[in-house]
Amino acid sequence: MLKQELEDGQSSLADPAFRADVLNGLAARPRAIPARWFYDRRGSELFEAITDLPEYYPTRTETALLERVSPELGALAADNAAVVEFGSGSSTKTPILLRAINPSAYVPIDISGDFLRQSARDLGQAFPGLPVYPVEADFLRPVPLPLQVEGLPKLGFFPGSTIGNMNAWHAVGLLRAMRSWLGEGARLLIGMDRIKSPEILIPAYDDAQGVTAAFNLNLLERINRELDGTIPLDAFAHRAIWNPDAARIEMHLEALRDVSFDVDGRPFGMHAGETIHTENSHKYGPNGARQLLRAGGWTPIAEWTDPRDWFALILCEAQPIRTAP
Ligand code: AVI
Repeated sequence: MLKQELEDGQSSLADPAFRADVLNGLAARPRAIPARWFYDRRGSELFEAITDLPEYYPTRTETALLERVSPELGALAADNAAVVEFGSGSSTKTPILLRAINPSAYVPIDISGDFLRQSARDLGQAFPGLPVYPVEADFLRPVPLPLQVEGLPKLGFFPGSTIGNMNAWHAVGLLRAMRSWLGEGARLLIGMDRIKSPEILIPAYDDAQGVTAAFNLNLLERINRELDGTIPLDAFAHRAIWNPDAARIEMHLEALRDVSFDVDGRPFGMHAGETIHTENSHKYGPNGARQLLRAGGWTPIAEWTDPRDWFALILCEAQPIRTAP
């Protein structure tokens, strides 16, 4: 049977973790489904399209910043480092980093095997002679690094403000896990989106062309396809709101009328105006960013922002943990 046939509409073949997150998330109050499930093939394509939108400033701001600071980065990064990228996706920023330093190996880690193989191939061609060791894994679980990079200095790379999609508890947990995978003395270059006016933030997550809306609604399509869902897509609308107390953009899917539907044989109902919370995108001020990193075991050693202070790149080091003072 073709892979596509297997992917189409057979709930028994769905990822059990996806099934559990959706069923539990729809039964919970408030209803919430983790954002990681956005990224099926269509969701990954839609996310790539988002990064090109005029309203979505993070990708182009971070890329320009990385270009600008690459000479300084080159001077700060350990010579011969193995670059370990978390959630490499289509790896558009990676060549800038790899050109800036003198890496001994590149380890892209991504949950999507398709994207991973493609970007590993592209980078292999752009950097002939650089060993590339792709790891298909969900970095929210323990990641075994390839034996080939054992003993090399490590530079973790976590761009895109993906850390913002986690709450502080999970973000600190992930930073600590990265520290233990990369080891004491390792460095981490992380991108973090800054707090800014909701007039900038909301359009970035609710664009005029409706690409972000399609990205959000694709989750319902995925549920219908993979979990035998009967969710009427026309009964839901994309919402992006700024939550100032939590300093985050929240994405929701709002029921436009009373609806009932089944998922995996289980009945669910929602009243008009009720939502399914699908994503948080936390934004950080300078102090909040540094505190989060320190709580995760990383000491900031250099920091750069763009001229508008919209996005920060922070280089940190896994220094020995000292007790006070
Ligand atoms: C992947 N992540 C950093 C994006 C963000 O900005 O939080 C995901 C996204 N959601 C809607 N637009 C972009």
